[in-house]
Amino acid sequence: MAGRIPQQFIDDLLARTDVVDVIDSLLPLKKKGANYSACCPFHNEKTPSFTVSQDKQFFHCFGCGVSGSAIGFLMDYSHLSFVEAVEELASRAGVEVQREQGFEDRKPVRDLAPLRQMNEQTSEFYQQQLRQHAGSNVAATYLKNRGLTGEIAKAFQLGFAPPGWSNLLSSLGQDEASLAILRELGLIVSNDNNKTYDRFRERIIFPIRNKRGQTIGFGGRVLDSGEPKYLNSPETPLYHKGREVYGLYEALQSSTKIQRLVLVEGYLDVISLAQHGLTNVVAALGTAITREQIDLMFRSVSELVICMDGDSAGQKAAWRAVVNALPTLRSGRQIKVLLLVKGQDPDSLIRQQGVDYLSQLIDEAAPLSNYFFDYLAEQYPLEGIEGRAAFVEQARPLLSTLPEGTFADMMKKQLALLTQTDAPSAARFEEARSPARASSRAQGKKRPSLIRRLICTVLHEPQLAATIAVDEPWLNMDMPGMPVLKQVLQALNNEAELSPAMLLERLRGGENGRIINSLFAEEKLIGGEALGQEMLGAIARLKEQAKQARLEELLARSSELTDSERLEFRELIK
Ligand code: UTP
Ligand code: MN
Repeated sequence: MAGRIPQQFIDDLLARTDVVDVIDSLLPLKKKGANYSACCPFHNEKTPSFTVSQDKQFFHCFGCGVSGSAIGFLMDYSHLSFVEAVEELASRAGVEVQREQGFEDRKPVRDLAPLRQMNEQTSEFYQQQLRQHAGSNVAATYLKNRGLTGEIAKAFQLGFAPPGWSNLLSSLGQDEASLAILRELGLIVSNDNNKTYDRFRERIIFPIRNKRGQTIGFGGRVLDSGEPKYLNSPETPLYHKGREVYGLYEALQSSTKIQRLVLVEGYLDVISLAQHGLTNVVAALGTAITREQIDLMFRSVSELVICMDGDSAGQKAAWRAVVNALPTLRSGRQIKVLLLVKGQDPDSLIRQQGVDYLSQLIDEAAPLSNYFFDYLAEQYPLEGIEGRAAFVEQARPLLSTLPEGTFADMMKKQLALLTQTDAPSAARFEEARSPARASSRAQGKKRPSLIRRLICTVLHEPQLAATIAVDEPWLNMDMPGMPVLKQVLQALNNEAELSPAMLLERLRGGENGRIINSLFAEEKLIGGEALGQEMLGAIARLKEQAKQARLEELLARSSELTDSERLEFRELIK
């Protein structure tokens, strides 16, 4: 496994990069005063409030509040992971990404290539059996009866595991090493009597591929009404059900720029819809939909439609998926929910009603906001104080998992509206999240944002703060926001030449990353010289406050002061 990317490399990369070029290559910008602007790609707008500052090397949208460096832009706009975004910038800058020779590199890493290779060979074997095996007519006929063509079977690499206990075993398990690999991949199993045999027998085989097209596991369907209907690969070093979705590789292959993925329940739904031209469809792998799966999909598209059977199992699955998805809903990402008529699945619907009908249902799927409140209202009818209280109790902790931002704010307002609770509930959200933060919010009201302004200033004009030492006593005052300020100063590390974008990248993913990002976004882009003065003023006031606090503390214990404390006291009252 590759080591971490060193901070220094990221600093250097950002120094070589011009955020204006990067964004302009993907989203044409217009010069506007000292900055550049465009209509925001992360929310719908008609007048441009998306602004890019060349000075500070970051972008910010006054409309929806997103902001970040060139790295952040690539992550959000092109749906890249952090490492992918760094790789993209490095390749634009014509440099190689550096990796730390870290701990991980020294650990012997297991080479999974033989397992991968065996999966590919197995996939090949089953495909070949579908084409050639004497008994494969039943399978071919079955697929044909389900309306699938040879072409689509080929695109999804469908195969056939013939009847018999040792077809795969005798073809690919020639030696001990191969047997061990087949066993680890769950393709052969041994019973109590030490008899070894093929897992998949007399089944249609669905190879499961990851985003990069590597075969990581298999599903196998019976040809009749036997049980179980599907057998699947177990968890293996290559296959983790909760982290993959079926059909993603095929969907991404089908077109260069898909905006939306539709998540359905079954392998055959994916294939049948693709056959009808709906190629942006993927399926969960027979388990509850996880946050990792949602994240995986959001790295490729900005909109997800969760499509489930309308029966009670399907409804529950959709709700669980939505709950798991809430923390992933950064601005620019959207989820919709489509519950089908009970007993129908996308495959049966498209065959009975046609592609246009299903496409329209997908287009008209309920936005998460509607679905969320409608679902809860069914469980906790909004009648009477008791009903509304129960509703609020359910909704609050869930909404508190949303990333901070406009969407979260609006959902919370909507909850207040629906349940006829009013403003103070905003503070209660913080309580649901963490008691510590709730109290710091409450205190923060009394001392309006001195520290907040200071954090903003440091984030925007790091060079102004480069001389503040992190061990200055006023930084230890017990005040809301102080730990965040300290963290920012630590990241700055007295380096005067750090740009805001570099500073922001150093704080990415840290403890207060989200708060820091939203503070960053709050500030106007154009600060001016007044900021420096304001900051000095703020620090002077904080030092004064720290002094007063210390004085009071010493006064309270004036009868029992040590010598050095007495000295300190005399200094303070000077
Ligand atoms: P479905 O029963 O809806 O399957 O299960 P399907 O894909 O629509 O298949 P057909 O149309 O009946 O042939 C949905 C998914 O749940 C998992 C599989 O991933 C399946 O695609 N499943 C289902 C299993 O893993 N095992 C089972 O026994 C049944
Ligand atoms: Mn089905």
